[in-house]
Amino acid sequence: MSTISRSAKFAERTSRLRASTIREMLKVTQQPNVISFGGGLPAPELFPVAAVAECTAEIMEEIGASALQYSVTQGIPEMRTWVAQRLATQMARDVSADDVLIVNGSQQGLDLLGKIFLDPGDHVLLERPTYLGAIQAFDAYQAQYLSVETDEHGIVPESLERIIERADPLPKFLYLVPTFQNPTGRTLSIERRERIVRICERFEVPIVEDDPYHELRFEGEPLPPLVSFARNGSVIYLGTGSKIVAPGLRIAWLVASDPEVREKLILAKQGADLHSGSLAQYIFHRFVSRREAFARHLEAIVATYRGRRDVMYAALGEFMPESVRFNKPEGGMFLWASVAGIDTTALLERSKEERVVFVPGVSFYPQRDVVESMRLNFSNAGEEKIRVGIERLASVIRSSAR
Ligand SMILES: Cc1ncc(COP(=O)(O)O)c(C=O)c1O
Repeated sequence: MSTISRSAKFAERTSRLRASTIREMLKVTQQPNVISFGGGLPAPELFPVAAVAECTAEIMEEIGASALQYSVTQGIPEMRTWVAQRLATQMARDVSADDVLIVNGSQQGLDLLGKIFLDPGDHVLLERPTYLGAIQAFDAYQAQYLSVETDEHGIVPESLERIIERADPLPKFLYLVPTFQNPTGRTLSIERRERIVRICERFEVPIVEDDPYHELRFEGEPLPPLVSFARNGSVIYLGTGSKIVAPGLRIAWLVASDPEVREKLILAKQGADLHSGSLAQYIFHRFVSRREAFARHLEAIVATYRGRRDVMYAALGEFMPESVRFNKPEGGMFLWASVAGIDTTALLERSKEERVVFVPGVSFYPQRDVVESMRLNFSNAGEEKIRVGIERLASVIRSSAR
């Protein structure tokens, strides 16, 4: 134990901070021959390395020092306009660049929302299961959770209504990932989208819509984000460049049309990091402004992930025992499987020995009360590896079931 940790009185809020299973797992995945369905990593071979190098050189040539200077907290105007225009197209509704705040990954957006909304003990409504990074962000603000039931069409409106009706005090907000959810890959049906917004508006509970996978659709019609149904700024929207360009740039955006919310967020961000990296914003903006090249880049990501989803789905059907149930998401990066009668945390230890890893589903339930499911990522490994990995995993499950 270091001198500091012996003498320091850490803040109470640190008592709930735990190493995430996923970050821990990344250590195993560094080992050779391990096939990982664990992390949520994009395919690195699709990163636009040459284009980013070109954009960077152009920026240094044309903008030079001001791309390296301190900048405004909200983000560079070019980025905010690009976000507003892109979201407006998806929503078929105007979006003002004034409503956009550029953040350092949507993970920072979640942290800032925790910072401005949550006092210790406050309640947050979550889907069941939900995104682990959100639990980590809100845990730091000592939130308590109310979990809403979900089925294969996403969050169940009746369950949401019942929980809010009984809640005392009212929850501070509902957090959800309506499209190709992390961890389940499920999408909230069109019928439910407007209903969820109306229920929350009736009780004056804001919604935080986290939408990193919207553009990774393999088939079917795109669905309007929840924010397109909002009447009075009741939905705060988060989008990110991590899955469509590269997570290392840490460029993401928060869209809030309520001026008071925005003002608080800007002040919270000033305290955290003054502003997101200017150079990264310029690079991101220049890359996405090469419209045709960016469209082709997105098509390549979608085609590659679709192929990998197909291979994983087919391999699950071919190799897994009957007791394993799994879905076929229409986009995103994850598929959800449940293994009747097997605790997947124990299963992970055995599957590590067989050089294949996944994330046990329990990580995505703050109450840690559902143990028989797992999240499988299909974006990172190539098709051949996916097939071999699922075959290995199936044999670990068969031997565990005996
Ligand atoms: C639902 C969800 N929200 C937020 C994030 C974090 O994204 P970012 O890289 O923008 O911080 C992820 C990343 O996996 C995610 O799945």
